[in-house]
Amino acid sequence: MSTIPPSFTIVDHPLVLHKLTLMRDKETSTASFRTLLREISLLLAYETLRDLPVEQVEIETPLTPMMAPRLRGKKLCFVSILRAGDGLLQGLLDLVPAARVGHIGLYRDPVSKQPVEYLMKLPDDLGDRVTVLVDPMLATAGSAIEAVRKVKEAGARDIRFLALVCAPEGAAAFAAAHPDVRVYAASMDERLDDHKYIVPGLGDAGDRLFGTK
Ligand code: PRP
Ligand code: URA
Repeated sequence: MSTIPPSFTIVDHPLVLHKLTLMRDKETSTASFRTLLREISLLLAYETLRDLPVEQVEIETPLTPMMAPRLRGKKLCFVSILRAGDGLLQGLLDLVPAARVGHIGLYRDPVSKQPVEYLMKLPDDLGDRVTVLVDPMLATAGSAIEAVRKVKEAGARDIRFLALVCAPEGAAAFAAAHPDVRVYAASMDERLDDHKYIVPGLGDAGDRLFGTK
């Protein structure tokens, strides 16, 4: 059993387990992988956004006036860590269509395994928004740590991270670097291999999502 840092929540739900198993299967097609990632993002978002504040407003149903809860205007920004983050993004936008979207282009250098930045596009008012970074894979966490550093630099204060599969080594590094950022994921896997891939994992998420290397 892997150690799970206190700032991590592993979302334990039969639908999440089922869909993740299908995604791990190497026989799963690109089309199915993409659909499953979008579906699982909805389930993970349910936990990630659970504490959004609500306010009571007066409405009228066809039968009677009533006070009813609605989201209290706390604005959201989803930040996709390219490329694979885009696979989680669409589902989140289905749930919160008015959210702003930021993009951070990072790839992991195949030799050094260090994140290399190639794009940065964030809204100006991140300080006023709940910021949810999305990337399915948290392996060494080099990319995640750097992406969170960038959104903090841009003013974000209320930050969450939505992932799919984590490695214990990366989770420990992330929790040490950003103990204030809560991470929501579907699984804490066993370990990293010699190439810093997550085991058992699901392979290269970006490649499987887009069908390119
Ligand atoms: C993958 C993944 C993360 C990163 C995780 O991206 O989507 O961003 O690797 O690895 P780390 O935790 O060791 O940093 P990749 O570099 O393969 O880029 P891609 O999404 O464009 O395929
Ligand atoms: N990036 C991926 O897409 N998968 C891994 O297992 C590690 C990094």
